[in-house]
This record gives sequence, structure tokens and C-alpha cells, in this order.
Amino acid sequence: MCYAIPAKLIAIHGKIGTIDYFGETRKILLDLDNVKIGDYVYAQGGVLVRTIPEKEALEILEYWKEIFFELKKTDEALANIDQKNLSPNALAVLQKVNLRKTLHKDELLSLLALKDPKELQVLYEIANNVRSREHGNASCVHGIIEFSNYCTNNCYYCGIREEKALERYRMSQEEIVSAAKHAVNHYGFKALVLQSGEDLWYDDDKLCAIVKEVRKLGVLVFVSFGLRSVETYRKLYEAGARAALLRFETSNADIFAKMRPRTKLSDRINLIKALKEIGYVLATGFLLGLPDETDEDIVNNILLTHSLAPDMYSFGPLIPSSNTPFAKVAKVNPDLVLKAMALTRFVAPDSNILVTTALETLDPSAKRGALLAGANSMMINVTPMQYRRLYGIYDNRIDADREVDKSVQETVELLYNLGRAPTDIGV
Ligand code: 5AD
Repeated sequence: MCYAIPAKLIAIHGKIGTIDYFGETRKILLDLDNVKIGDYVYAQGGVLVRTIPEKEALEILEYWKEIFFELKKTDEALANIDQKNLSPNALAVLQKVNLRKTLHKDELLSLLALKDPKELQVLYEIANNVRSREHGNASCVHGIIEFSNYCTNNCYYCGIREEKALERYRMSQEEIVSAAKHAVNHYGFKALVLQSGEDLWYDDDKLCAIVKEVRKLGVLVFVSFGLRSVETYRKLYEAGARAALLRFETSNADIFAKMRPRTKLSDRINLIKALKEIGYVLATGFLLGLPDETDEDIVNNILLTHSLAPDMYSFGPLIPSSNTPFAKVAKVNPDLVLKAMALTRFVAPDSNILVTTALETLDPSAKRGALLAGANSMMINVTPMQYRRLYGIYDNRIDADREVDKSVQETVELLYNLGRAPTDIGV
């Protein structure tokens, strides 16, 4: 199974290269020495991750050739908007979006307030149309390895908070690298997220050693280790990590202070900004459905994410986790998440928007809905099974015992069904 289409390097300007696949060109960071024009490469998130021999590349491209154009047709058909269904409100928004005008906060709030299923359908269609316009049918599928459920934090929403009685685990460097190898060699992943609770048992040396080994597999290494020093993230970058995932959780400082004891919103925001400055491909976002959260908070969350200029938006619904202070929070309406995705697509038309496992857990059909409401990116859990169920940041995770084979098969079917190609190779 292959998660990326190889591309040919057709121009080099310093560290930036132009690549081409089937006539589509993208810009990438040439993150390897000794690449030259004419080389075939794999890229993820705008970063070159490895070169591949020409013969192999041509074989893969031959395989994709027909499928690729078929998929494009499907995507384009699905991205059509039935103008008849447009209400005056939605039409006005569409016009602004098409003219690439900025939507004001009030307009975003009025869209977030929509409830009529017909109007929502149109809102999602517009967002899907913008996604298709900006990205074509390109989509990205990353793997995630959750390697430790120890955490020094005590966040009210989180199922691996320090105070929760829980069987804890830490994967050794060998186990992590071996899981990564399997994901790369057996399933063809080209980007892997390494995630853990805030577990200081993994010091800088341990983390850097892990990153170095995983980078050697020829993948984009995405780190998600929580609040660590800027210095640590600098070292991780030097070790080969090129993408970082860190959510700010909520833009509302009062809500943040209540639910994240001992931590500060400003520290988190400053770190997110520093990650960007270091040069990481940045993924950030928030939780949706926190107690006391208003629609205005949600719009503020989207706008704050946008102001941090991330390469990927990662936000999802809060799912109750037993034996936590938020065990009894109200269930989030899946449409709220889809609306936030559509709004994000309008605010940042060329963004990558991730469908989270939390959304899928909330409503299994929402994954498809999200991909048709502006989202274009997915993750597959490749954590070894014996640890998977222990990384219980919330209850009843849909992927708690879903074999990777099954996730891959379902994802590929869904992508094909929607006319998407796994071509996350440039920005
Ligand atoms: N429901 C949904 N998402 C959660 N996270 C933590 N706890 C929950 C929960 N109960 C998210 C946080 C964190 C990410 C790793 O997981 O947003 O940043």
C-alpha cells in the first residue's frame, strides 16, 4: 500500500525544490543533501523525506496513472455545489469566499449558528468546494505511535491525567523504532507522529535518539510531546524532526486556567510560536465542547489557530473520560465539529484540516462527513496493540482495538470513494 505518489524534482532554488506529478507542481523543502534535478522523491507536508530509484518510481506512477485521473473526476463531481439550494445567506458567503475576501467574526458566528440541515449541507458543500479548489484531490494520511501514557499534567478532560488510576506504559526506543519500521516497510507510511503524555522520563537524549532512528526510515517525523523547552524542540529539530503537533486547547484563558492546573495558556502559545520559528511544519488547534465554552470562544479558537499560521489544523470534540472531572460533560453535536471545519476552510482556504479519532469516536459516520466539509487529512493509529487500549485519553476510542490492516483498508476505501489521492507532497 502506498501513501504517497512519487514526484519528479524539476527545479531547485537553494533549499526549495519544485516537484511534479502528473502535471501538478508543488514546492518542497529539500531536506536532504545530494538531490538533483530529475530525481524521483517522496515528500510529506512540504518536506522532502526520501529519494526513490527511478525504476521503482516509474512503476508506481504507472500504477497510479489511470486511477489518479479517475479519482480527480470523482472529487470534482463531489465538490460541485448545487446552486439551487443556496439560501441568500449562504450565497453571500460563497461569493465572499470565492472572491477570497476575509469573513468577519460576525459572519463566522452567524454561520456557526446555522442549524437547518439543508443550510448546513450547503455550508459543507461550499467548504468542500474550496478544499477541492485549493488542494485538488490531494489528501494526507499519517501514522501515529503513542509511546507513553505517563503524564505530569492533571488536565480535567484527559484520561491519562496524572491523578487517574491507570495501568501505565512506556515503550522502549527499540519498541518505538520497531513499530515505526513496521508502519513504514509494511504499510508504506511516509509520515509518522510520535506522541506521548508529558513524560519527562524521556529526556532530550532519549527523544533525540528515537527521532534520529525513525528519521532514518525515510519518513517525516512529527513530534507531539507537549510542553517542553524551546531548547528541547531545537535539539529534536536537529535530530531530524520536521513537524510538531501541539494544541493550545482553548483560546479562552479562564477556561484554560480552570481545566489545566499548573499550566499557562501563554506558555503554550509562546511554545507554539517558537516551534514555527524553529522551522517545524506546525499542527495546532483546540478542543471543542468544553464546559462554559460559547460560540464566540469557538470562533476565537479558529481565529487564534489561524494567527499562529499552522500548516495543519488539528481540533476535535471533547469526549468524556471516566474518573476525570469532566466525566459527565454533555456530548458534542458532530455538526458543531463539521461547522468548525467548514469555517476553518473559509478562514484559511489552503490549510490542511485533520479529521481526528475523537470525531470518529463521537460519530463513526462523521469521518466521511468531515472530508466533505473541508477536511483533507487523516491519521491511522499504528501503536502496538498491547499498548493501544492503555492510551485512553478518552473512553471508547474507536481505534482502541482496530487492527492497522483494517484501518488502512477502510481509509483507502473511503479515499477512493471520495475521489481523493494520497498525494500529500507539497504545500
Ligand atoms: N477528548 C478529546 N480529546 C482529548 N484530548 C485530551 N483529552 C481528550 C478528551 N477527553 C486531546 C487534547 C490533547 C490531545 C493529545 O488529545 O486536545 O492535546
